[in-house]
Amino acid sequence: MQDNSIRLFCVAPMMGYTTPYARKLYRILTKKAFLFTEMIASKSLINSKNKDLIIENDRHNPVALQVGGSDLNDLKKCSNIAYSYNYDEINLNVGCPSKAVQKGSFGACLMKDKVLVRQCLESLQNNKIEVSLKCRIGLGRKTNYEFFEEFIDEVSKSGIKIIYVHARNAILTGISPSQNRSIPPLDYTFVSRIKLKYPNISFILNGGINSLDMVYSLLKDYDGVMLGRLIQHNPFLLKQVDKNIYLDDKVIDVNEGLIEDYFEYIKTKTGLDSMFRLLSPLLQIFFGIPNSKMYKSQIHEYIQKGNLILIEELLKNFVKQNKILLN
Ligand SMILES: Cc1cc2nc3c(=O)[nH]c(=O)nc-3n(C[C@H](O)[C@H](O)[C@H](O)COP(=O)(O)O)c2cc1C
Repeated sequence: MQDNSIRLFCVAPMMGYTTPYARKLYRILTKKAFLFTEMIASKSLINSKNKDLIIENDRHNPVALQVGGSDLNDLKKCSNIAYSYNYDEINLNVGCPSKAVQKGSFGACLMKDKVLVRQCLESLQNNKIEVSLKCRIGLGRKTNYEFFEEFIDEVSKSGIKIIYVHARNAILTGISPSQNRSIPPLDYTFVSRIKLKYPNISFILNGGINSLDMVYSLLKDYDGVMLGRLIQHNPFLLKQVDKNIYLDDKVIDVNEGLIEDYFEYIKTKTGLDSMFRLLSPLLQIFFGIPNSKMYKSQIHEYIQKGNLILIEELLKNFVKQNKILLN
């Protein structure tokens, strides 16, 4: 069995959040956590003139590129693109329930067609890059272990060795994508049961993991965990991951140097993307810190003026004054 310890702690793909800028911040905070891009539709990946900006991988490894699509030829091309941009893995999204994604025949609705999912995974394989799947445990309002098992029976014939499971159903009509992350009940036992049948596949558990203590406890029973919203809201938790999960001695200090590193990177992107997108991952630094309102409104003003230098100074000042709370 391959060594999958690199996937003990994964940061989930999140559209609008796991941008190259967020991944830069995550990588400053943890050298080890396994990262993901946002989902990128296969056609955009192939045809976009802005490819560099969308899928840039500035040595964010280990990192997976997540693709949404079901056209077998397109998927083949996507795998080669992911390889050429130095991604470690290409991941097929079979979990997104949005209407737009259903219209494009990808995302969670593909769970209805397990043979097509298997073919998609086979098309992604090019012997150069790891291929993986992210799926739900089923579709609709009722859970059904047999449905999930038969789905995994079929897709595992592709030979994939890594499956990320968002351990709740997707409901394709009547509720929004965000409700689809809370209304269908979680059932982690689906993941434990399928692991018994497929000990050679790494099943990474996702959904509802809302503290690092929960992570430590789940890692006793699962191959790895994947966290989305906890990291979206509080990315600075990542500084504990290398030491507490990967048993590395180094603890990252939140200091002025960290702010400088981040700004050094985003300064090269000004004009290419909105200032808000460039800054928003770092602005989560205020999460849970009392009396940060004054800083936030000042930053908002500087964003309006487009003054990155003043924002950097202000954040360095904030870090200096809140060192104890931040570390
Ligand atoms: C804002 C947002 C965007 C998301 N975008 C994606 C996506 O692009 N691809 C995907 O597979 N899942 C996406 N998800 C789902 C997450 O990857 C994850 O499966 C889900 O949030 C459950 O994990 P959590 O409870 O740790 O947040 C998104 C979630 C959020 C909150």
